[in-house]
This record gives sequence, structure tokens and C-alpha cells, in this order.
Amino acid sequence: MMRAYDIIARKRDGLRLSAEEIDFMVRGFVEGLISDYQMSAFLMAAYIKGLNEEETINLTRSMIASGRCVDLSSVKGIKVDKHSTGGVGDTTTLILAPLVAAAGVPVAKMSGRALGHTGGTLDKLESIPGFNVNLSKEQFIGQVNRIGVAIAGATADIVPADKKIYALRDVTATVSSIPLIASSVMGKKIAGGADAIVLDVKTGSGAFMETLSESRKLAEMLVTIGHKMGRQTVAIISDMDQPLGFAVGNALEVKEAIDTLKGKGPPDLAELCFTLGSYMLVLAGIVSKPEEGRALLKDTLSTGKALDKFGQLIEAQRGDPDVLSDQGILPRSSMVEDYLAGKEGYILSMDAKKIGEAVMELGAGRETKESAVDLSVGLVLYRKVGDRVEFGEPIVKIHANHYGKLQKAISILKEAIIISDERPQPRPLIYDIITENKVSR
Ligand code: URA
Ligand code: CA
Repeated sequence: MMRAYDIIARKRDGLRLSAEEIDFMVRGFVEGLISDYQMSAFLMAAYIKGLNEEETINLTRSMIASGRCVDLSSVKGIKVDKHSTGGVGDTTTLILAPLVAAAGVPVAKMSGRALGHTGGTLDKLESIPGFNVNLSKEQFIGQVNRIGVAIAGATADIVPADKKIYALRDVTATVSSIPLIASSVMGKKIAGGADAIVLDVKTGSGAFMETLSESRKLAEMLVTIGHKMGRQTVAIISDMDQPLGFAVGNALEVKEAIDTLKGKGPPDLAELCFTLGSYMLVLAGIVSKPEEGRALLKDTLSTGKALDKFGQLIEAQRGDPDVLSDQGILPRSSMVEDYLAGKEGYILSMDAKKIGEAVMELGAGRETKESAVDLSVGLVLYRKVGDRVEFGEPIVKIHANHYGKLQKAISILKEAIIISDERPQPRPLIYDIITENKVSR
């Protein structure tokens, strides 16, 4: 008979686990037969000793088998999903989903809530008055068939093992593990019905994998799992050392997404959307090269079709489409204050993790017993890394609803933003694009 104790001990000693052993742990935990403390020990052993490629694929399979899969077979065409490993001010889904749908590729997107210092797409969408993210499977699929796009929260029966395991990882310091992230991400994408997957693997201070070499290993593992499980997969390694775009916060990012769909968005955010989107079009088979995809997306954006599609999406999910022309209907904070440069020079860093924490401190993060997610608060950057600033010049606009939280956010910004006399070397926005399995250990 298998026992959790023996499986934990084998992983502790660095031994390889069989598919049956991994499945025993995942299934037992979901069914409540394995306790939190045994699963925590198992996760820590896996974190420290690692899981090889085969074990990671088996873990992904067990994750998927813990729940039900979305059947998108009634949606015509190749269904391409996109997933980010988590970032700060990462507004891409709000732009990409309507943009890619308007270019002719069906987008059935399941998104999540805020996690750690990173924001959640569902929270952002809920800042549009009336917007409903809770769609049944039938509503979700019906909407994709009707207008080509839907964004909803995953129902409880999609990879329940991930929800339970993630909650434990969050409090046991076992999030930043390549096999654990890879199985979590790919399990959800495959269970979500994706035929092909474009992954945005973040690197830098605001990412779960901070160094480029670790991010690259994660990207390669994600692509390997995708290919071994019969899904075309591409991973784009992108910068998350400073926030993406200018806005960080729920309603503030909705405004930024609308600006971007009008062609007036921050250059880095627009560029990342074009890169991710062009690969989505390639995997969907409607263009043969990313350059063609980019041209099609630029045309879709400049003709206003992408913005119209966002309007259709909002209307279909009972949100107020007037938000496209009147952003005054979005929730607004009661206080705004500028954070000023303490000296002249060049911005050396805007630490994405700390900035994310400052925004969580303002109340934009997870719902707690005491308070709901505050949709109106956040930050808007006036400057980015490498920019010149003068003494006393505003660098960040802070939107807050509570004086104490505002002060706390300011003290975090003091640590996050460093000004130096010399102009720093610019970091690239895109580090690499992984299309082939290079790992195979
Ligand atoms: N995003 C996920 O979906 N899972 C992880 O484990 C980390 C980031
Ligand atoms: Ca942003």
C-alpha cells in the first residue's frame, strides 16, 4: 500500500517518483485524505530536490485529472490561449483578448485574481461597472461562438488541485519552483481547452523567477510540457524588473488598456501585446510568420476594430460600454498625491516587486475578511527606468483612499525607486522567444 510518508521521504532523499506516487499525493490531497502538513512537506521536498521533466509532466497530468476540462470543440478554429507567469501592471490580457479576437482568432480566456504582489485580470475587469466574470461553461462557450471572445474566472471544477496546492505554496515559501509553476500553469491551460499556448514568462525583480537563467529554464520546461502533451507552445521571456506600462491598479489599468486600444498606450505595453499577439496568430494558423501577424494586429488596432471588440466583450458580460468614451465612470479614489524625486539624476530602478507591494498596500490586492478589493487605488508612473528627473519633479501619481495606507505606500516607493547620477544601461523588453524544447534532461 502506498503511504504519503514514504513518498515524502523518497523525494526528500532526491529519488525519482513514479506517475502513481505523484498521482497518489495530488488525488489524496484533493480528496482530503492527505493533510496540509504532509502536502507542505512534500511540496518543500519537491522545491528543494526538484522534479525532472517526466515527473513534472506526470504532475501536470495529475493536476488536470483532479477536475474537469473545458470542451471547446464547438468553437470553430484553433483555440490559442495566453498566460503570464505573473507581473506588476501587466495589463496585456485586457488588450490582447479583444485585439486577437478582432483579428479573427477565437479567444476563450480564463483569468485569475491577484496573487502575492501581482494583480489579477478578473479584479481589473470588475472595475468596469456591471462587468460579470462569473460565466457558466455554456455562457462562456456560447459567447465565444457569438462574438469571438470571453474572459471569465475558472469554475471550481477546473484543476481544483491547483487552487488547493497554490494556497499552500503561498504560505510555505514554495511558489518559485520551476516544476511547481510549470505544472500549475500548463495544467490550467490544457484543462481550459487550449489547442495552442503562448506564454509570457516574466523575468526580473517583479517575477517569481527573478534571474534570466531561471526564467529561461522555466520557459523551456513550459514549452517541453506543451509539446509532450500535444499542444503547440511558444514562450516569450519579457522584462518584469519595472512595472509594465504606466498604470498599476485595477481601474487605472482598465483606462490604460482602453488608451492602448485607441493607439495611445505606453510603448512597452503595446510592444509586448504585439509580440505575444503575433505568435497567437501564428499558432492559430491564420498567418505564417510573426511579422505578418504583427502587421495584421497593427491594422486591427488602427482601424478601431480592436476597440469595438472590447466594447462588444464588455456589453456581452453586462458591463457598461460607455467606459470606452467616458472613463469618468470608473471608480475613482478620494485622494491623489504625487511622489517627488528626492534628487536629480536618472532613474536607475523602479523595483517591480516593491511597486506591486505598494499597490497591494493601498488595497488593490486580495479580498480579506475586513475589506473588499479596492478597485480605484494604485499608481501611475510619470517616468520609467532610464529617464532623467530633476529634484522635486513628480515621478509617480498615487491614488489612495486611506491616509495611513498612502503613507505606507510612499515609504515602500522610497525603497523601490533609486535615482543615480549615471544613466543606466537599458534592459530589453523581450529577452528571448522559446519555440523549441532545448532542455530534455
Ligand atoms: N502562475 C500560476 O498560474 N501558477 C504558479 O504557480 C505561478 C504563477
Ligand atoms: Ca500597466
